Amino acid sequence: MRDIDKIYIDGAFVTPHGGQRFDLYNPATEERIGSVRLGDAEDVRLAITAAKRAFPAMARTSKAERIAMLYRIRDAVKARADDLIAAMTEEYGAPTYFTGFSVQNTASIFEVMAASVEDYAFERIAGSSTVSMLPLGVIGAITPWNSNFGFIATKLAHAIGSGSTIVIKPAEQSAIQTQVLLECLHEAGLPKGVFNVVNGTGPEVGAALTAHPDVALITFTGSTPAAKIIQRSALETMKRFVLELGGKSPTIILDDADLDAAIPVALMSGFANSGQACVAGSRILVPRSRRDEILARLKRDAESFKVGIPTDPDVRIGPLANAAHWERVQSWIRLGQEEGASLMTGGEGRPEGLDRGWFARPTIFTEVTNSMRIAREEIFGPVLSVITYEDEAEAIAIANDSDFGLQAYVLSSDDGRALRMAQQLIAGRVVINGAPHDPRAPFGGFRQSGLGREIGAYGLDAFLEPRAILKPAA
Ligand code: NAI
Ligand code: MG
Repeated sequence: MRDIDKIYIDGAFVTPHGGQRFDLYNPATEERIGSVRLGDAEDVRLAITAAKRAFPAMARTSKAERIAMLYRIRDAVKARADDLIAAMTEEYGAPTYFTGFSVQNTASIFEVMAASVEDYAFERIAGSSTVSMLPLGVIGAITPWNSNFGFIATKLAHAIGSGSTIVIKPAEQSAIQTQVLLECLHEAGLPKGVFNVVNGTGPEVGAALTAHPDVALITFTGSTPAAKIIQRSALETMKRFVLELGGKSPTIILDDADLDAAIPVALMSGFANSGQACVAGSRILVPRSRRDEILARLKRDAESFKVGIPTDPDVRIGPLANAAHWERVQSWIRLGQEEGASLMTGGEGRPEGLDRGWFARPTIFTEVTNSMRIAREEIFGPVLSVITYEDEAEAIAIANDSDFGLQAYVLSSDDGRALRMAQQLIAGRVVINGAPHDPRAPFGGFRQSGLGREIGAYGLDAFLEPRAILKPAA
């Protein structure tokens, strides 16, 4: 049992003012594994006060000082990699391939930010004026449960890189993971108040953060509906925003694709992180001319994906994060059938042989039209929709006909053709032929997938504000 009863304010682990407890579970076994004592609005106020006090000194730090802080955190994360992986496995249930990637990626986020700070022009000339890119002040960060370390790391790295201070509200259901990461961050020995972490619920701690007049920018990853509530609440104090939200990303399989390579990529793009990924390729667009062959392979390969406990190295799909989310995914599987799509594989209930744990069956719908809700809304589970197209123009039209625009995937044997398709897609990132994750490429989405971009100079731009100084000619 892990009982998390501290939050982190002003460089120290402290007992929250809030007294409510929230239970924590192992999603692969449904066992209660601990609890977290939640903070409240008073804790948010104290954390913001500490961050505000730390801001002037942080704003004055040199590039070299910020880079040194980022490297100290990177090293502290690497030193506890095994503990971080263990916490993520137990409390989130992600398969080994994903926990390993997540922890390595968390360390790399700080390293990439260090390189971005090195290259960034904080002082510039425009016309005959000098321009300084200035940090905003106190940043408020709200993060979800589907990649707890990575999202906290991204938000914190941008605050440090830009010279701001930060108050973070992670997803309450990830409190054990947050605690281990916090121990790493504490070990890195940053100045007091530079980062503060308050566990708590969205409607209480999240809302207090978004309404507070001393918070200059909200950086949020999560659902589009929560982002809208946050934006409304932050309007009164004119906060800046970086929002990384949902998606309904298309995977376009072109008629010349090498299916031996393309089918596993299409499935992994959809099922990665057990389908609980904002970037999931959840709409698979297949050409009419090769439809039967592609469907047969999608079915065969999907049925060979191993679903099970996260510690089994062969497992590709773990449990969903919590009971409520499992129910939500089940209702999407019912809705797909009610809307008239046909269930090619999967369906409601647990996979055979798994009678405990929030496991869903890898599910693929065919005969989906792009106007069905299963094609328009984020499901956030291992549930994919296949949509048939006649020609390239129709594939592009279907791909772009979405309220979202986070990521897109193109699969083709012809690099030039894949690139021409990519250039017509409205998405923050387009991945050609299963290209690996690029930790230096900007991340974020068009339309309701969000606002602004993270990573590199794009990410720093969003956390900085230009001040131009105009002087009369000498
Ligand atoms: P959510 O968007 O409600 O939660 C994300 C974070 O926002 C959590 O820390 C939560 O406490 C906080 N939050 C919620 N309401 C808030 C409010 N009124 N004010 C301030 N903060 C608030 O996501 P939830 O309910 O956990 O998942 C629902 C759906 O959202 C998923 O099924 C998925 O479709 C989507 N989602 C997308 C994510 C992404 O990576 N883009 C991550 C998590 C969820
Ligand atoms: Mg919610």
